[in-house]
Amino acid sequence: MFSTKICCIGAGYVGGPTMAMIAKKCPNVRVEVVDINADRIAAWNSDQLPVYEPGLDEIVSEARGTNLFFTTGVEAAIKHADIIFVSVNTPTKTYGLGANRAADLRFVESVARVIAENADESKIIVEKSTIPVRTAEAIRSILETSGSGHAHQVLSNPEFLAEGTAVSDLENPDRILIGGETTPEGQVAIERLAGVYGAWVPQERIIRTNLWSSELAKLVANAFLAQRISSINSISALCEATEADVDEVANAIGTDSRIGPKFLKASVGFGGSCFQKDVLNLVYLCGHFGLPEVAEYWESVITMNQWQKKRFADSVVQAFFNTVSNKRLAVLGFAFKKDTNDTRETPAIDVCKQLFEEQASLAIYDPKVETDKIYRDLAVSEDEPRLEVCDSAADAVNGANAILIITEWDEFKALDFEALYDSMVKPAWIFDGRNLLDHAKLRMIGFKVRSIGKPLK
Ligand code: UDX
Ligand code: ADP
Repeated sequence: MFSTKICCIGAGYVGGPTMAMIAKKCPNVRVEVVDINADRIAAWNSDQLPVYEPGLDEIVSEARGTNLFFTTGVEAAIKHADIIFVSVNTPTKTYGLGANRAADLRFVESVARVIAENADESKIIVEKSTIPVRTAEAIRSILETSGSGHAHQVLSNPEFLAEGTAVSDLENPDRILIGGETTPEGQVAIERLAGVYGAWVPQERIIRTNLWSSELAKLVANAFLAQRISSINSISALCEATEADVDEVANAIGTDSRIGPKFLKASVGFGGSCFQKDVLNLVYLCGHFGLPEVAEYWESVITMNQWQKKRFADSVVQAFFNTVSNKRLAVLGFAFKKDTNDTRETPAIDVCKQLFEEQASLAIYDPKVETDKIYRDLAVSEDEPRLEVCDSAADAVNGANAILIITEWDEFKALDFEALYDSMVKPAWIFDGRNLLDHAKLRMIGFKVRSIGKPLK
């Protein structure tokens, strides 16, 4: 009854939503998402999905049990599948050769071995995780040395979805990139996968390349995006010094069609699981291939981001005459951006850790991030009196000396700032790390306001 059987190994932020979209768009394709983490699979099978994405619940509940399945049966799913997506995590290596730079391929490698052991016919294996260039070669060599005699095809099909907008990004992608071998068999595999996406993506948006171009393009796309943010953030510091306004500068340059308006929002710093990891990966690759000048060029994107986070926390300390000891700071937002519960590499971690070391008391509120995740991310025990995770913005702000906006959640724009002001210790400060709020209005209420790249008033 199904024309194609797909298995996706790894039910995370990428695998889960991507497979749900394929299942929705291709009723004749059977999609099975497998993971070794039984709790995660149980959550995918419940009403409380492990990933928060606007619109995802509807898609999953529509397809689940019809042509979308979540299980822990990795081996069986591999046996039945025609196409196997590999969507496991590839964190930055924390040890040994390439520590803090290279990607840790342990999970990808172990998946390649499981595929080699369980595939009883030729399969199309698709790299979906962000991986360093030439990983396909590593996967292929593991598959070949298994000696099963099956000629598997390895494709690279990087995912460009952004968290918080995953559903619309998947539904209407700028492009689908598929890299494969230039052999006739490689081309057949590419077209088979292109056929799956062709159910809803116009053919002209499906880009076919060789394997290495596809792998590298993913790293380069993220590096360019991260670079844009570091560029505008570097200018934000100059704006503060010169009384220029970074939003005005961004708007003025963004209207140049060669520059374009997107990704020019100055902030407390970028976060997320991809940007830092991919830039570091690029830096590692350049070093590995003897290109230290190129490595240094890209490394500065990370240096600038680290500095921006520190600069923000420093500005809070400076506003309180260099001591925030025993000051209550209300931290609004902990996720790395709005509309996600993901906290990987969130700027909130660095900012909160620095202020905590300065002996501030932190009252944190985020609409979606789970309380225990915040304690874990900050490596603080739940009975620590200087850290409180609150159920509402008003609770966090009550009795605080300052409000810090770290994530640009829409609900923060609609807060009753007059009431918040009344509940705070005076002078009441707002440090707007996202330039989210109406600063003139806040000043009218009585707040002292600091923001990113705006003249100090
Ligand atoms: C990114 C890429 O956009 C996506 O294509 C890739 O597949 C994964 O990595 P994601 O990390 O989910 O997606 O979010 P993104 O919207 O790119 O934002 C990353 C970080 O940059 C966030 O912390 C965000 O707040 C910050 N950002 C983004 C800015 O500070 N300013 C901007 O103008 C845009
Ligand atoms: P991403 O953001 O790339 O989707 P996540 O960390 O959210 O990354 O998800 C990756 C998933 O891959 C995790 O749920 C993890 O349990 C799963 N995983 C890692 N190794 C394996 C493996 N060998 N077999 C099956 N699943 C795995």
